[in-house]
Amino acid sequence: MMQRAAIIGGGVIGGGWAARFLLNGWDVRVFDPDPEAERKIGEVLDNARRSLPGLSDAPLPPEGRLSFHADMGEAVKGADWIQESVPENLALKHRILAQIQAACDAGAVIGSSTSGFKPSQLQEGSAAPGQILVAHPFNPVYLLPLVELVPSAANDAGFVERAAEVLRSIGSYPLHVRKEIDAHIADRLLEAVWREALWLVKDGIATTEEIDNAIRYGFGIRWAQMGLFETYRVAGGEAGMKHFMAQFGPCLAWPWTRLTDVPEFTEELVDLIAGQSDAQSGAFGIRELERIRDNNLVAMMRALKGQDWGAGALLRAHDARLKAGTALVARAADVAEGVPVLTLARAVPLDWTDYNGHMTESRYLDAFAQSTDRFMELIGCDAEYIAGGGSYFTAESHIRHVDEVHAGARIEVRTQMLLGEGRKLHLFHAMYEGERLLATGEHFLLHVDLGTRRSCPPGPQVAEGLALMSRAHGGMAWPEAAGAAIRRAG
Ligand SMILES: NC(=O)c1ccc[n+]([C@@H]2O[C@H](COP(=O)([O-])OP(=O)(O)OC[C@H]3O[C@@H](n4cnc5c(N)ncnc54)[C@H](O)[C@@H]3O)[C@@H](O)[C@H]2O)c1
Repeated sequence: MMQRAAIIGGGVIGGGWAARFLLNGWDVRVFDPDPEAERKIGEVLDNARRSLPGLSDAPLPPEGRLSFHADMGEAVKGADWIQESVPENLALKHRILAQIQAACDAGAVIGSSTSGFKPSQLQEGSAAPGQILVAHPFNPVYLLPLVELVPSAANDAGFVERAAEVLRSIGSYPLHVRKEIDAHIADRLLEAVWREALWLVKDGIATTEEIDNAIRYGFGIRWAQMGLFETYRVAGGEAGMKHFMAQFGPCLAWPWTRLTDVPEFTEELVDLIAGQSDAQSGAFGIRELERIRDNNLVAMMRALKGQDWGAGALLRAHDARLKAGTALVARAADVAEGVPVLTLARAVPLDWTDYNGHMTESRYLDAFAQSTDRFMELIGCDAEYIAGGGSYFTAESHIRHVDEVHAGARIEVRTQMLLGEGRKLHLFHAMYEGERLLATGEHFLLHVDLGTRRSCPPGPQVAEGLALMSRAHGGMAWPEAAGAAIRRAG
């Protein structure tokens, strides 16, 4: 059944939530009195469409439907999840939450994006406080997985778990904050760094750019993969965490920090920081900076995915969920007769595109190689078979580039087996976006004995898979482009 989210307040954060829900297949209804809301959400969505789907190596579900509503009741009625993301003002949030609860279903989850208020504060005056909790995301909501999920004593455990499960299903990571506290966990840490940075600028120690460099060239990269404590554990060396604490513990009493003081927020300080920030980054427009940020985040998260670590491990877990619902067939016996078989369905990741603004050459081979791997699994040449000493080596490839494809595009590769006999396997892959042909890849492979590294006939399991595929594809016409060579110029 299609699930529906209502987004109340569609600014930076509400727009990001809308994008994450939509791209994970939910219908989304937006209520925001700002006449510009539709345009602004459209821009967030454009950024999300090029960056989010390609984080996955499995296809996301078809995008949900987005609609805008002038009446809040209409937006929230029938919604499974309602996300409040109006400005950070408690009286306003109370008013909005009361309006939401007057119209929404009793079983709906109402999450608030509040950066600072505790759930019990938001629940004040509500007849059904158990329906409201804090779901605090991080910008850009469509890429960063963390959502601090903060209940109060009014929320029962089953409700909190249901909310967490919804967040996991859209690729988020619900961090259950067990004890409510102003500003939750992450913003308290960020506030500490922010305060210290304001002092460093105010006291003329460092510029905004120098502070950013101190973060991004060093501990920022460390934090992104191991956080604080695991990083320090490693810093303690063989002696470990106790040694680290003993070594640096005493300096906590020294005046290394001005953390408990707050610099006076004068116009002078604001001008100083804004001026330095303009000098540092003013050459870029805000949309440009957002795109640079998204490119970098995707590249980093996909690198962590390769390591199955941190945010990358979460991406892998989300892929496993997505794959469970995919349309790819698992066995040759189930392949439909007379049509190419679907061997790849995914979106083009941002890091697959190049200076020409489209998918870079080597990634066509990457995609076709994934299709070949998939096809090998279909005919029984799976991990277990390969561990037993048999596999295929590619002997020859020919790729034709037919049309352009951009980041975020949902591509499919459909594969026809031209020959699967004895040690020979001849495959013809065709890559599409919808029904638009993008490229073809023709590959000739030989079955090998991984012990001798020489070609040999396949074992019975793969021979049977090939026979089944021959039955399914044997009667198909040869694709026009199969066997084509590069024409000589002139
Ligand atoms: N910006 C961040 O980095 C960030 C991160 C996490 C959480 N938050 C929290 O998210 C919430 C929203 O912040 P934001 O940065 O998106 O602000 P924003 O100003 O970009 O967006 C707020 C939106 O709410 C709309 N709005 C105002 N009154 C409304 C009403 N009565 N009904 C419906 N919509 C209304 C505005 O038109 C605007 O589009 C705040 O609670 C904030 O603390 C912000």
